[in-house]
Amino acid sequence: MGDNLLIANLFSIKDKTALITGGATGIGKMIAKAFVKNGVKVYIASRNKKKLEETADELTKMGPGVCYVIEANLTSKEACEKLTAEFEKLGNEKLDILVNNAGMVGCSVPLTDFSEKVWDDMYNLHVKSVFYLTMACLPLLERASNKLIDPSRVIITGSILGIGNGDPKFSQSREVCALLYSSSKHAVHSVAKNLAVHITPKGVNVNILAPGVVPVKDIFYQHMDAIVSDIPQGRAGKEEDIAGAAIYLSSRASSW
Ligand SMILES: NC(=O)c1ccc[n+]([C@@H]2O[C@H](COP(=O)([O-])OP(=O)(O)OC[C@H]3O[C@@H](n4cnc5c(N)ncnc54)[C@H](OP(=O)(O)O)[C@@H]3O)[C@@H](O)[C@H]2O)c1
Repeated sequence: MGDNLLIANLFSIKDKTALITGGATGIGKMIAKAFVKNGVKVYIASRNKKKLEETADELTKMGPGVCYVIEANLTSKEACEKLTAEFEKLGNEKLDILVNNAGMVGCSVPLTDFSEKVWDDMYNLHVKSVFYLTMACLPLLERASNKLIDPSRVIITGSILGIGNGDPKFSQSREVCALLYSSSKHAVHSVAKNLAVHITPKGVNVNILAPGVVPVKDIFYQHMDAIVSDIPQGRAGKEEDIAGAAIYLSSRASSW
């Protein structure tokens, strides 16, 4: 019984199955890598098939878990249902961990330049698809759930900008406005809290991560001084920071 408290058991995610959107790059790849290194069967899904396959090969070589790919452009209810159907067609009757992570990063523009298309694309991806993919996967998540001991998990990548308001120094230094990105992340933080109310009783826990800045593109490195001056710890996020949170939120340790 005391063995349940060992980190190796309490934080184990071995032999679980996960679906990670936007898992070929950036934060999604950090989560996929942490999962594969800890024995999870991972599916990564996004638009760029070549990038997906490169990442899947790289991670599978690391093992002991494996990484597979599914191509998906997650901007509609239909696309979310198609992704779920393809995941099932690959022989999966259940899903332990859904990570809604895909996002549009670095797309901010000056306040006067917001196009309607970017509004629609960003809200479709950051808000609508998170809801519809979770709903499409719900039967698979319920099937995997050990409700009272180790529920299934939905993890959403929100943002620190989904909690606070105003432009971070990263946006100010690029003379762009984070209003659209920030408001869509506020919306998905609300989606997460509302989903949690409705699906936790079904044995599916919902959590949302709110990362600060995690450098995933050259543009981050070009503005590192501004970024760091906004962060109390004095440094940007690293893969260990993301991995630690994702493993905790996927393991028995965070069941309750
Ligand atoms: N980096 C940060 O500092 C930071 C901080 C807080 C929160 N976040 C959030 O973290 C998440 C991941 O972003 P990231 O920073 O890791 O940037 P990233 O490397 O650009 O990742 C974004 C991922 O989303 C996928 N994607 C974009 N549009 C898609 C679509 N229509 N359908 C399916 N997949 C799509 C991309 O793959 P394809 O191009 O192959 O589709 C890509 O793998 C986002 O939700 C972002 O808002 C990032």
